[in-house]
Amino acid sequence: MTGSVLVVDDDPHILEVLEMRLAAMGLDVTATRDPVDALCILGERGFDVALFDLRMEPLDGIALTRAAHEKQSRLPVLIMTAHGTIDNAVQAIKEGAFDFITKPFVSEELSGKLARALSERRWARDRDLLRGVGETLASSGVVEHVLQVVAERTMEATETERAVVFLRGGGALRPRASAGASPAPLAELAGAAHAAIAGCAPVVVRGAAGRLTLAAPLLVDGAAEGALVAENPSYVVATADDLALLAVFAAHAAVALKNAREQSRLRGGALAALGRVATQVAHELNNPLGGLKLYAGLLQDRLRKVGDDQGVEMALKVDRALAHLGDLASDITAYGRPPELRQEPVGVNTLVEECLDLAEDRIATRGVRVVRELHDTVREVRLDAREIRKAVLNLMLNGVDAMESGGTLTVRTRPLDGGRIEIAVEDTGCGMDEETRTRMFELFFTTKPNGTGLGMAITRSVVDLHGGRLDVESAPGRGTRVRIELPAT
Ligand SMILES: Nc1ncnc2c1ncn2[C@@H]1O[C@H](COP(=O)(O)OP(=O)(O)OP(=O)(O)O)[C@@H](O)[C@H]1O
Ligand SMILES: [Mg+2]
Repeated sequence: MTGSVLVVDDDPHILEVLEMRLAAMGLDVTATRDPVDALCILGERGFDVALFDLRMEPLDGIALTRAAHEKQSRLPVLIMTAHGTIDNAVQAIKEGAFDFITKPFVSEELSGKLARALSERRWARDRDLLRGVGETLASSGVVEHVLQVVAERTMEATETERAVVFLRGGGALRPRASAGASPAPLAELAGAAHAAIAGCAPVVVRGAAGRLTLAAPLLVDGAAEGALVAENPSYVVATADDLALLAVFAAHAAVALKNAREQSRLRGGALAALGRVATQVAHELNNPLGGLKLYAGLLQDRLRKVGDDQGVEMALKVDRALAHLGDLASDITAYGRPPELRQEPVGVNTLVEECLDLAEDRIATRGVRVVRELHDTVREVRLDAREIRKAVLNLMLNGVDAMESGGTLTVRTRPLDGGRIEIAVEDTGCGMDEETRTRMFELFFTTKPNGTGLGMAITRSVVDLHGGRLDVESAPGRGTRVRIELPAT
């Protein structure tokens, strides 16, 4: 039998006998007559199992079990009791003791119950582990999310103060997910991570102030891509078991990483294929679009001649919509080549109105109410109107799409400090769940049957090119607000 055991009994003879017997079984024994002293020891180091006498002063075995579990929640405790006190022993089990042993001890009973308690402890851990694994698998494939779950479950199952996942990136090791808190500097943990990566195996590192750090490498296809680090576990000596547990969690993080890579590789392939189709379609669109544009122009001329102002206005709208379609077609053909910005002073409110015009059709079919909060003091800003229009229009259409059964689309412009301006598009639609929130900027990520999933990717790249910021707030069932902040020009 291997493991560490804490024995507390106020009878020195029993204590001595037990110490000998337990040591003979191969256990690492710590014995004390004083339950208060026992609590101090439990505060300093962890044990695999504990044996407490029932009748003790000033803390009896039940009270000591309770206090011990505050320090080490999963410590299996065996209560030792004389024949006459079975009722109390039953009470002890209700209070969280694992089992009881009657005095005088029968050798087989003692070793049998200890062995069971030790395996129970392992089992309790495995159960935690499995729960963590199951939950992680059930959660999304978003790598950040999975890594966070791994960090949290690691902390829980290894009874540590902090767990951090480090990944390699750009030649350095960076923390990508973290759970818990501890005073140790991150650099110390990174040191342990480096050691695990260098040796391609789990390691134990003793840091400043005797703090213990366990690290296991994240092996993806045989190469260490990072490490999972658990810091200051409640045990002073880390067993092979503890390291094995950490390695299992690390393996899980590695699977998440591998899956994420695989997905992006597949998406890359799909992207290329889709890109080829899109380019062909866009090319095919160009000719009829040219024709339509010509007719719209002719129609406009005729209507102007007969003085039909309303008709002219409509023809103009057709013309603008066609221009937008033409732009879209050339965008698709040019995707991947970042556009050269053609910046010129543009009235932001006018631009927003143009976008609303372009979205008008879809707004009307959905029965969406539009609220304009366009600030008068928003002046002209230097920007590429074509690009920003594309971005804002996508936000509006996304908002409308999110409101299947109507709602309110609020479009806001306002000046910010230092000449910056804000354009906000807000809807009262379905909102986004966590997975959608993390993936919406991915190229070709869409939840719509007819979506292309290009909108948000383009929107962000346009805003980035302008040196602006994009900020999304969204909650399922409550709607979404997207803000574009453009710098002063
Ligand atoms: N306002 C919003 N409310 C709810 N979900 C949104 C909103 N905006 C974006 N999304 C989610 O993000 C996904 C990606 O949006 P994106 O604009 O990139 O693509 P799309 O709208 O699906 O297709 P398209 O390329 O035609 O714009 C959407 O499919 C949707 O799930
Ligand atoms: Mg969209």
